[in-house]
Amino acid sequence: MWLRGFSRGTLTELSRAVTNEARHTMQRNRPLARVFVSRRVPQEALSLLRDSGICDIKHWDSDDPVPRTDLLKGVAGVDGLYCLLTEKIDKELLDTAGPNLKVISTMSVGFDHLSLEEIKKRGIRVGYTPDVLTNASAELTVALLLATSRRLMEAVAEAKNGGWGTWKPMWLCGYGLSDSTVGIVGLGRIGFAVAQRLKPFGVKKFLYTDYEPKPEAAAEIQAEYVSLDKLAEQSDFVTIHCTLTPETVGLCNKEFFSKMKRTAVFINVSRGAVVNQDDLYQALSTGQIAAAGLDVTVPEPLPTNHPLFALKNCVILPHIASATLATRTTMAVLAANNLLAGLKDEPMPKELTL
Ligand code: DGY
Repeated sequence: MWLRGFSRGTLTELSRAVTNEARHTMQRNRPLARVFVSRRVPQEALSLLRDSGICDIKHWDSDDPVPRTDLLKGVAGVDGLYCLLTEKIDKELLDTAGPNLKVISTMSVGFDHLSLEEIKKRGIRVGYTPDVLTNASAELTVALLLATSRRLMEAVAEAKNGGWGTWKPMWLCGYGLSDSTVGIVGLGRIGFAVAQRLKPFGVKKFLYTDYEPKPEAAAEIQAEYVSLDKLAEQSDFVTIHCTLTPETVGLCNKEFFSKMKRTAVFINVSRGAVVNQDDLYQALSTGQIAAAGLDVTVPEPLPTNHPLFALKNCVILPHIASATLATRTTMAVLAANNLLAGLKDEPMPKELTL
């Protein structure tokens, strides 16, 4: 029965307003959610959490990772955890946090630092930051690929240290993208964005491999789905963008490198553990492959006396793929919004399906 004088639309609006008000009243009357933020993050994100009025925040306000003992102390009894890829969120941590923990928000697209099975068992929701770092990561991949294949680090050093005698026909020659075959391991968001950016360089052919074919993305870049072996054998450039899972640990090993061309360049911007670093060192130092560019290693930071640092044909960056000011700020804000939505039992902007 409709109330006399009110249209159906007005009544719907009224009922919506009453429901919203009731929800806000409930939220206002709830005790503040206890939240641990595990690192100094952009102010925009912290302000969002503070201004929400629903959190009581404990903050590890440092650029350096929180030591494990402080992390465990910090999470005891919390309702929400805002963390980075440097924090291992495992059974021990979840047990220490206790039953109140209902949401974990990581300021990363990668989630290999989270024990998903343990998290799922406890009904905890997880927020992460896909999409917003795709462009920055793809750009960096291209920069690293060019720096490695065109030997930019060696060239800069030679120019600076007096090695630049005169113009020499074959000095510091590297490998170009024009007419090349590029093999992409993991045609997800970033792998695809890398292909889009490499295409205008005149790449002749894209190959890709993944746990299953991705026909739509592949059609856009005219990429061919092949086995990992075929990709290794035929590519002039191999670029790694798969997620780290038990199946991809050590995927790029002795056998893989032995199949690659001696003139091929290997790039990894996913996770260090996808590569067997001892095998990579062998492949680079014996000329089995031409060069490698790594944005990720095991461990991170890679000790400065690690043998890979001694190789001229290996360019190593300190995990900076997403490091533009805008991207990191957007990631931090998205992680804050995910956390707040989780605490309010609302849909998260980017929730990981467990
Ligand atoms: C991530 O988000 O997982 C990247 O490795 C760092 O931005």
